[in-house]
Amino acid sequence: MTSNTEKFGKTPHQSSLWTRADALKVRADDPTTTQPLVSADFPVLSNEVFIWDTMPLRDLDGNVTSVDGWSVIFTLTADRHPNDPEYIDENGNYDITRDWNDRHGRAKMYYWFSRTGKDWKLGGRVMAEGVSPTAREWAGTPILLNDQGEVDLYYTAVTPGATIVKVRGRVVTTEHGVSMVGFEKVKPLFEADGKMYQTEAQNSFWGFRDPWPFRDPKDGKLYMLFEGNVAGERGSHKVGEAEIGDVPPGYENVGNSRFQTACVGIAVARDADGDDWEMLPPLLTAVGVNDQTERPHFVFQDGKYYLFTISHTFTYADGVTGPDGVYGFVADSLFGPYVPLNGSGLVLGNPSSQPFQTYSHYVMPNGLVTSFIDSVPTDATGTQIRIGGTEAPTVGMKIKGQQTFVVAEYDYGYIPPMLDVTLK
Ligand code: FRU
Repeated sequence: MTSNTEKFGKTPHQSSLWTRADALKVRADDPTTTQPLVSADFPVLSNEVFIWDTMPLRDLDGNVTSVDGWSVIFTLTADRHPNDPEYIDENGNYDITRDWNDRHGRAKMYYWFSRTGKDWKLGGRVMAEGVSPTAREWAGTPILLNDQGEVDLYYTAVTPGATIVKVRGRVVTTEHGVSMVGFEKVKPLFEADGKMYQTEAQNSFWGFRDPWPFRDPKDGKLYMLFEGNVAGERGSHKVGEAEIGDVPPGYENVGNSRFQTACVGIAVARDADGDDWEMLPPLLTAVGVNDQTERPHFVFQDGKYYLFTISHTFTYADGVTGPDGVYGFVADSLFGPYVPLNGSGLVLGNPSSQPFQTYSHYVMPNGLVTSFIDSVPTDATGTQIRIGGTEAPTVGMKIKGQQTFVVAEYDYGYIPPMLDVTLK
C-alpha cells in the first residue's frame, strides 16, 4: 500500500484498498446479500416523469428527518416522452428503453412529500430552470440545517465539467403539503484536482460527483464523501501486489484492469457552514477492481463507520465480477483502515435472474435500504423487459459487526422518518 504521507506530505491517512482478492469472494445470489425479486407488475410513481437516485431529507448526522410530520425526498428526475416523435420507433411504438437510457443528460432535481413515508406526491423542481449552471443536476444530498427549515442541497453540476456545488433554500409546510423556496444561488465548492482525484483531461470517463456531507460522530467536524477516480492519465495506473491482494495461484493475471480506478473521496470543511472545503486523499480505492464507487454514504453504528457505495457489474475490471448493488466497508475510525463487509464488500446485489432490477441503493441508519427500479424481465428468457424509473420495494437489513443480513421487505419507496422536526 502506498502511504499517502509519502505521496501527499502532511495528509493523515492512507487509503484503504478494495482488492481483487476481496472481490473474488463476491457471490451473487447469496440470499443474505441479495435483493428479493421485484415483480414486473410494480406500480409507478408517475407517468409524467422517470425518477432514479433518491435522496431522503436528513440531518448532518445521517438521520432521515420529516418536517411538521411531512416526509420529504429529492430525486433525480427526467420527463417521460411517450408522445415525442423522437422516441417513437419504426413501428409507431414508444421506445421507452431509449428514453430511459437518455435520462442522465436531462436529469433535474425534484422533490416529493408524504404523510406516510410512502405514496409520494410530486412537489416539483427544486431549482427553477436557469438556476443551475450546467445541463445536468446530478446526485447529492439535501440537509435540513435547523428548525427554521433551512436546507442546504449539495449536488453535482455536470456538463460541462463536474463540480460539487451547493444551493441553500427553505422547506415550507402547510396542512396540505410541502414546498421548497429559495434555491436561487448555486455556489461551486470544488472540482477534481488531478493530483488525488482524476480530471476529465486525464480521462474522459472520469467520475467526480455525489456529495454526501456529514458530521463525524467522533470529532464533530464537517466532512463530505464523494465519488471519484484515482488521479492519473487513463491507462497509467499500476495494479500491484497491494491492489491484487492475497489471491490463489493462477489469479495473478490482472488483464486490462488498470483502467478501473474508482475511489471514495473525502473532503473536510474549513468553516462551520460548509462553504469552504479541502479535499483529502481517498478513503478507499478500487484500482484494478472497479471503475465506479457511486453515491458513497455512511451509517454510524456501534461506534463504527459503515461506508456504503453503489456499483455495477459493467464497471468491474477484467477477472472480477459482481452484481449491480450496494457494497460496504467498515472501520473503527473515520480514516480507516476499512475492511469489506461480508468478506467481499457485497451487501445487497440484484439476483442474477434480474440483474438490472434495481440500482442506487441508499442504506439508512435504521437499516432500511431504498433503491429505484431500473428494468424487470417480463418473460422467462429476459428478452422482454419493463422499464421502471420509479421506487423499488424497500429492503430491511441488519448490520452486525462485519456482516450484513437481508431480513425484511417493505412497500415500494418506503422511507419512514427517523425523527421529526417541528418548524418554528
Ligand atoms: C447513480 C448515478 C450517480 C449520478 C447519477 C447520474 O445512479 O450514476 O452517480 O449522480 O446517477 O444520473
